[in-house]
Amino acid sequence: METIIVTGAAGFIGSSFVPIALGATSMRMVVVDKLTYAGSPLNFDEFAKYPRFEFVRADIADGRAMRELMAARRPLWVVNFAAESHVDRSIDGPGEFLRTNVSGTFELLEALRAATRLTDTETSGRTRFLQVSTDEVYGSLGATGAFSETTPYAPNSPYAASKAAADHFVRAWHETFGLATLTTNCSNNYGPRQFPEKLIPLMILNALEAKPLPIYGDGGNVRDWLFVEDHCEAILRVLQNGTPGRQYNVGGNCERTNLQVVDTLCAALDELAPAAHNAKLRARGLTSYAGLKTFVADRPGHDRRYAIDATRIRTELGWTPRHDFDSGLRRTVAWYLSNLDWCRAVAEGGYERTRLGLAPATEAA
Ligand code: NAD
Ligand code: DAU
Repeated sequence: METIIVTGAAGFIGSSFVPIALGATSMRMVVVDKLTYAGSPLNFDEFAKYPRFEFVRADIADGRAMRELMAARRPLWVVNFAAESHVDRSIDGPGEFLRTNVSGTFELLEALRAATRLTDTETSGRTRFLQVSTDEVYGSLGATGAFSETTPYAPNSPYAASKAAADHFVRAWHETFGLATLTTNCSNNYGPRQFPEKLIPLMILNALEAKPLPIYGDGGNVRDWLFVEDHCEAILRVLQNGTPGRQYNVGGNCERTNLQVVDTLCAALDELAPAAHNAKLRARGLTSYAGLKTFVADRPGHDRRYAIDATRIRTELGWTPRHDFDSGLRRTVAWYLSNLDWCRAVAEGGYERTRLGLAPATEAA
């Protein structure tokens, strides 16, 4: 039985990838995750007893652990989701982003390269490494246009810089060492099990507690939203049929300003958790969740607009998203409403939804 190693699958996107990949292949799956604040065993609980599933708690930046793991498992595929993923945290503490996102990716590449030398020729020829990357590496767009795979990298946040650096290592390991690497650059995901520091779950949980909905700047920043399962299906498609050495942009063709996202969320909440039944909201004299919207100081270096041109993955690999934003968002709101215990459990490490990423201004020289 062939093995797929999936790093970071105790987090948001990786945990959606687990059932999709287990269902679509007959491979043995080894999930490798450090279980940071963003990773929870609750996210793969239902697969823990599955015979083809195994969990290994490890740090991808631990080179020795990665070399031992790859040598022992001889994976056919490695998919790297593991990362520090939150832009605001990268402003407060960029060091961990360098360590996990750059050094971690490097250690995985080196460990896989060493392991492929130990493996028989047939398997080693089919070994693939897929780097799950982001559209943020391309920087910020003006009012028109979209990121294609030939858009130059121009990362603006420490998070984006760390992902961009990792992507360059992945490319180099293909060009120099012949490792069959693939990179996907995806836009903003939404869906179940996203840690409540990110825009959509943060807004849902604050709204239910009648707390302010903090909108950075003027709320006009644009993101291109994609339901998480669509992203995972794209990753699987690239793993199975992508051309080694290539990048594939993945996006939902679904641009929304942050203000539009928050308004759509409030409308879904008004329907699924009516304000009339929310004592905290009534105590504030509000009849709709939209009354909680609050404009706050902007994120430093805040990219204005992202949009993805997904022509390559559509035409070469036949992938298109299956979910539309309104129904996907409604499903997401419904998931959070039914999983408030999960929300409490993942915040137990001390996360209280306070504002992150307001770096003090650098003093003028
Ligand atoms: P997440 O923060 O929800 O999960 C990250 C996971 O990685 C967690 O389980 C965490 O415990 C694990 N991890 C962190 N550091 C580790 C380390 N040193 N060793 C092993 N495990 C470690 O992130 P996510 O939103 O699911 O994103 C997954 C990947 O997809 C990331 O690489 C991210 O850059 C990329 N991505 C995310 C989005 C998005 O909208 N969320 C969009 C495009 C690309
Ligand atoms: O584009 C892909 C990227 O999308 C991924 O690579 C990242 O891992 C992922 O976190 C996400 O990055 P963003 O910075 O776009 O996501 P976030 O949810 O932090 O913010 C979305 C937008 O909402 C952004 O313009 C900032 C704004 N925002 C965010 C928060 C948390 C607010 O206005 N208020 C908030 O409280």
